Amino acid sequence: MRNREDGAARWLHDNAAVGTSLTAGPPSNTFEIDPTSDNHVLIAGGVGITPILAMALELAERGASWHLLYIGSSRQEMAFLEHLRGVRERVTVWETASRGRPDVPAVVSEWIHGASTALYCCGPAGLVESVSGDFSGRDDVRVLSERFTATTELGGSFEVELNRSGGRIRVPDGVSVLDALEERGIDIPWSCRAGICGTCETPLIAGRTDHGDSLVGTTRADDVCFPCVFRAADDDVIVLDI
Ligand code: FES
Repeated sequence: MRNREDGAARWLHDNAAVGTSLTAGPPSNTFEIDPTSDNHVLIAGGVGITPILAMALELAERGASWHLLYIGSSRQEMAFLEHLRGVRERVTVWETASRGRPDVPAVVSEWIHGASTALYCCGPAGLVESVSGDFSGRDDVRVLSERFTATTELGGSFEVELNRSGGRIRVPDGVSVLDALEERGIDIPWSCRAGICGTCETPLIAGRTDHGDSLVGTTRADDVCFPCVFRAADDDVIVLDI
């Protein structure tokens, strides 16, 4: 059984040697530019600029309507500023050392216009959480975010019914559904085991879940779940199409 600290690097150290054959798949992007929105607001906190930078430059190349709020302690600490020089009129750099933390909804309000704005946020969990909360329920804003860590505790015990394999498994407190499935000899593809990458996406047939990932509710319908992190929302039996 693997825990959340395990991952590809650990597996390679422990198992791979010269001559080991590895299967590789193409990269997948679960944090991409929303093609349905005609306006884009990007918010990056610290190292969160990493994916946001590429998105900003892509939007610039497309001639799209966009603006970036880049938050960091000071310019000296903020990466990639030189890459943004060519689009500086669309970038607001916010140095918290001199200005304190920004009131994000107030700062970005003038950049939100039209029928549909996609708001992308990447950075510390606190920033992502507060931005998601600030704009939830707005019909004119679609929030898409990327976190670096899972936010869900694997609490509570519940049952999962396997629609195609047949039978049920009990998922103990503190154990992920992914781990419980593997214990049962059922392997599904995974990468992050933290609800971030989307690799373990599985059709959800019945039952209410606390999704716990960074994907459902922002970019996806509610008929899928991510067995590396989801939990049963109540006493429902969760039915998966596995
Ligand atoms: S393995 Fe990445 S979301 Fe489950």
